[in-house]
Formats: sequence, C-alpha cells, structure tokens
Amino acid sequence: MKDFIDDEHDGIEESWRQQYGRTLKFYRFFSSAVLFTTDPKAIHHFLSNTHIYQKSEATQFSLGQIVGPGIIVVEGDVHKQQRKIMDPAFGALQVKNLTEIFVDKSIQLRDIWAAQAAKSNNGVARVEALSWLSKVTLDIIGLAGFNYNIDALGAEEGAAPNELAEAFEAIFATETGPGFSLARFLQLRFPILRNIPLKRDNNKKKRDKTIVEAQATMMRIGRRLLADTKREIAETGFETNTGTASGRARDLLTLLVRANTSKDLPATQRLSDEDVIAQVPTFLVAGHESPSTALTWTLFALAQNTTAQARLRDELFGVPTDRPSMDELNELPYLDSVVRETLRLYPPVRETTRIALTNDVVPLGTPVTDTNGMVHESLHVRKGEPIIISIIAMNCDEEIWGPDAMQFRPERWDAPPPGASAIPGVWGHMLTFLGGPRSCIGFRFALVEMKALIFTLVRSFEFELAVPIAEMGQKGTALVQRRPIVLTERAAGNQLPLLVRPVAR
Ligand code: HEM
Repeated sequence: MKDFIDDEHDGIEESWRQQYGRTLKFYRFFSSAVLFTTDPKAIHHFLSNTHIYQKSEATQFSLGQIVGPGIIVVEGDVHKQQRKIMDPAFGALQVKNLTEIFVDKSIQLRDIWAAQAAKSNNGVARVEALSWLSKVTLDIIGLAGFNYNIDALGAEEGAAPNELAEAFEAIFATETGPGFSLARFLQLRFPILRNIPLKRDNNKKKRDKTIVEAQATMMRIGRRLLADTKREIAETGFETNTGTASGRARDLLTLLVRANTSKDLPATQRLSDEDVIAQVPTFLVAGHESPSTALTWTLFALAQNTTAQARLRDELFGVPTDRPSMDELNELPYLDSVVRETLRLYPPVRETTRIALTNDVVPLGTPVTDTNGMVHESLHVRKGEPIIISIIAMNCDEEIWGPDAMQFRPERWDAPPPGASAIPGVWGHMLTFLGGPRSCIGFRFALVEMKALIFTLVRSFEFELAVPIAEMGQKGTALVQRRPIVLTERAAGNQLPLLVRPVAR
C-alpha cells in the first residue's frame, strides 16, 4: 500500500501487471488483502453490480465531510433517486447551452495571460498554469453549476475574496492536508476513533470549527441559490423553458430543480431541499478539481510535444471564429485526439475503491494462477473485501495499448487498438470517467469545457516548460489528485510553471 501511495512516477501498476498478471492482492495495515485487477470482465462486473460493490463507509465519511450527502457520496436507492433526477441536466443539449460560459471564461484567461506577456520585457509570460486553470474551472462551475459568479479569475486583480470559494477552500484544506497521516488513516478505518484527538490532531477543535462554519456558509448559500432558482422558475414557468433561454435557465441547479418539480415526477420520488442543496458542494468539488487537473496535464503534455502542439494549433487556426459552438469544437479531430490522449494517460481520478457487501463470484477474462499454482477461472470475493479499480492501470495497459502505452501520442486515436473496446468505460474506450450506474455524470460537460479552453489557449499562445523536464515530477495524496510538482521546490506544492508566448497569425 505504501508503494502504491508513494509512487511519484507512473508505472507501478503496469509493473505489477507485468510481474504478477492482471489480478493480484496486496496488503495494508489493519486490513484484509486488497483485490486489485485490470481484468476488463471483472471490472465490468464490479461497475455494473452496484448493489454489491459500493463505496466503503470510510470513503463515504471522508467524501461526506467535504461535500455532504450529495450524489457522489450516497448509495443504493437514494443514489438511484438522485441520479434519475440529475441525469437530464447533464445531457448533450444542456451542455451545448453552457458552451458560451466555457468560451467566455477561456477568453478571460487568455486576456490575462496576454496582458502579462505584454508587460514582460521579452514578450513572454511566466505563469503558474495550474493555479490559473484551477481558477478558471472554479469560475466555470460557479456559473454553469448555479449561476453564481465566483470570479476567481477577477480576484487576482484585487477583488474581494468570494465567500463560497472561501468556505469551499476551508473545508477542502482541512480535509486534505498534505501527505499520508497514520492518525487520519486510522480515523477513517475505525469510526470510533473519529472523536478522539490523535497526536497529529492537536488542532482538531479548530479544524472542526472551521469545517462546521464553512459547511454552514455553504448551506446558507445553497439555500439562497435554491430559493432564487425556485422563484425564477415560478416566474418563467416550468414546462415551457427548455434551458435555452438567457439568465439562470441553463445552469445545472436550475435544470435539477425543474426536473425535481416536474408534474411528471411522483411526489415520493422528489428530492428534499436538503438533498438538492447537497449538490452545490458536490458540483463544486466534482466539477472543478478533475477538469483543472486534466487541463494542467494537457498543457504539460503539449509543452513537451511541440510537434503535437503545432499540429493542433494549425487545426485550430482553420476555425473562423474565436467563439466556437459545441458542434464546432466537436468537429475538430486533432483537438479530440489530444483530449482523449491526455485523459487516457493522465486520468485525474486514478483509481476508485469499492467494498463487497456480500460474498460473490466474479467472472474473469484472464484466469488467475495463485501462489500454489492453482488456476482460477473466476474469483471468490468475500463480504467486506476491498477492491481497487485502477483507472490508470487500465488506461496504460501495454497489452492493450502497445509498448508505447506510457507515451503521449494523440495519433493513436486515428486507429484505437481493438483490445480497448473491451474496457467497460462510459466514454472513449477508457476508464477515465468510469462506467456503469456510478460513471461520471459530468463527462460531456468536462469534454466540451476542456475543448473550449484548449481551443482558446493553444490558438493564442505557444507553451514551453519554464524548468527543465528533469526537474518535473508528480505528486498526489489519497484525497488530492496527482498533479505536477517541481522536484527542487517540493515545499511549493503542486505547480506547472510555463512560458507563454503569444502567437502571431
Ligand atoms: C476531466 C474531468 C472529469 C473526470 C476525469 C471525472 C471523473 C469521474 C469519475 C472517475 C467518477 C467516478 C468516481 C467514483 O465512483 O469513484 C466521477 C463521478 C462524478 N463526477 Fe466526474 N469527472 C470529471 C468532471 C466532472 C464534472 C465537470 C462534473 C460536474 C459538472 C462531474 C460530476 C461528477 C459527479 C456528480 C459524479 C458522481 C456520479 C455518481 O456517483 O453517480 N465530473 N467523475
């Protein structure tokens, strides 16, 4: 487990597959063996049987501390009910209507970087791309999620900090302190320990107070947003508005409230106000962190692959507008390949875990030979057994993707390998957005958002790493996604220093 957590470079999962095969078990403190598999048939089984394989109580607890009882945390019938009502808000038409927000915010970031370049002596800006991408994706989810103007991009220019962003930061920072903490690990494993101040937790009272206050702020803002949304829907009418109108009508919260109040929905299936409000921090966390990680890795990959960067820019120059629609973005084949390749090689969510609620027999595509030499065509999983579904291992499996699986090569998407079609992902022959009933509800949103930002930024700038590639590494923790670091500046945390040079057309 320690090797798994500490791995700062990609490849530990692939080296395990080469050494032990597709299915193995490994051990961690105070726990039974953890089942780890890259067998597509077994993964399909785990992902589709959500009544047996669910998030553990510890995962639900730690996620719940950050986002409350939103869709990402709840299980069983409650999840089914929330998902049914929320699914329509994330459809292709709905995302199409949000594209204008993605483009507006991309242009705002472009203009900030262009101004920085213009001010510099040599016409080149040195930016810390990760923090800017984090701001732009936070602004986007604020507006597209609930028509709330977070304005993290503007705050850099001296605006007052926004209370929603502040509350969110407070909860996230207290829940995701850096590195591996045994105290925290034990608290997650054993609920009874959660109220005992462990050694590293001298600040527990302060921490709890911050969390309680921040959650109260989120709830207050959530209630206000919900009340505003309900009032606006009542004024504009339930049935006539399809989400294309201006103003609030297109944001996810409005669509969710509209679905929840639809005459067709039986009263027993409606979400309570508290359930609806819980989706505000859920959208903020789920809709902000992964896209910003994915975009950071895209610029990292393009900065090193100047040929791919130039080819992409050539394609983007062929579009006659700075403000593309969703359809125009989706018609660009190389942009699509770059997005696919980044999401394959750098999946923001690298793995997910599940616990078996009952004993089960799991089908295997590739039989397993155990340490006694016995061959098993299927796996017996015991009640309570933890399972790791490794997204990165599946996406970078050399047996499927070939010997260059660990390389960034957008051209591979001209003819994806046939083996990839067995991967049970909801999108693009990969597990990046997972699969089955718990797959990412926001994958269409994320893809168009990424395309809008890459379109705008790569059309406007050339990107180059600001430090030698040998100085770049990557670091994440159990709760914080893996992102680039500068190895000589570990204390600075995750960062991506880039040189940004405006391009003349
Ligand atoms: C590149 C961007 C993204 C990636 C790679 C990604 C990936 C994922 C993955 C792997 C899961 C499953 C997690 C698990 O079960 O352990 C998930 C769930 C989820 N994602 Fe995303 N996501 C992205 C963007 C978004 C966006 C933009 C939104 C919302 C606007 C969103 C909302 C959600 C929600 C609500 C869930 C929980 C779904 C459920 O349990 O039914 N995601 N995402």
